[in-house]
Amino acid sequence: MESWRRRSKRSTVKGILRGYMGLLNEEIIDMDKHSVSDIIQRGGTILGTARCAEFKTEEGQQRAVEVCHKFGIDGIVVIGGDGSYRGAQALSRHGINTIGLPGTIDLDIACTDYTIGFDTAINTAMQAIDKVRDTSSSHERCSIIEVMGRNAGYIALWCGIANGAEDILLPEKYDYNEQRIIDNIISNRKHGKKHHIIINAEGIGHSTSMARRIEAATGIETRATILGYMQRGGSPTCKDRYYASIMGAYAADIIAAGKTNRVVGYRDGRFQDFDIEEALQMTKTIPEYQYEISQALSR
Ligand code: F6P
Repeated sequence: MESWRRRSKRSTVKGILRGYMGLLNEEIIDMDKHSVSDIIQRGGTILGTARCAEFKTEEGQQRAVEVCHKFGIDGIVVIGGDGSYRGAQALSRHGINTIGLPGTIDLDIACTDYTIGFDTAINTAMQAIDKVRDTSSSHERCSIIEVMGRNAGYIALWCGIANGAEDILLPEKYDYNEQRIIDNIISNRKHGKKHHIIINAEGIGHSTSMARRIEAATGIETRATILGYMQRGGSPTCKDRYYASIMGAYAADIIAAGKTNRVVGYRDGRFQDFDIEEALQMTKTIPEYQYEISQALSR
């Protein structure tokens, strides 16, 4: 593979604002190395992001290709998850070299063990849950804390273990038994536990109604906290900065080498790239051993 230093002298880099929407609207800016100075410690995105229904259509994709030609764009690096990769695939079919980078707090991209954003999200959530636990203990309450993850329970699993939760509810292991949770709360209270933390994944949801039912059944004050979008912001952790930097450089290297329709991942202890089609067909679920440990620790 051509070296990063030699290739970077010849490449011209542009930034597309607001994702595929910005591509269709020709919101394209020139970038150089100074464009990204002083941003490594910042959350969010300087380019912006948007959902774009038009790009899902054949006409939208044709128009996107025309825009690429107009602006002299022959390769695009797309940061996101499965939906973004499907768009990248479409562009690749029309002759635009595309490389996907795994960017999601949900950790739900099957070809990679790591997705950019996950570590920052779990650390943000972990710190918030510690704070909720303080008030939960002070008031001797039960707290249901809902974390993000769409249909995946990785944030809930990691925080459930890291925060020492008494119950961890994951959509992948959906055997939700409210009576078992109620019995657990009552038994813990009898043994002197002042708090009871339930980490509930977004994929299960309904935390507020769950809190009402648990309070009615146990007689213990129960509150629901939905952490929400705070999990998607804030200064990235060292791990996120490191993985994003290496994966970004890797994407630039393989696009310079003429590869297309690939997605970058970290798997089996190394950075590697996969065919997007194959990556989209892979499946991933919560590892059984880690799930068992989470259940054993929460009892
Ligand atoms: O994929 C990241 C994520 O934050 C999920 O955890 C969540 O379900 C979803 O995005 C929320 O999307 P929106 O910003 O459209 O509400």
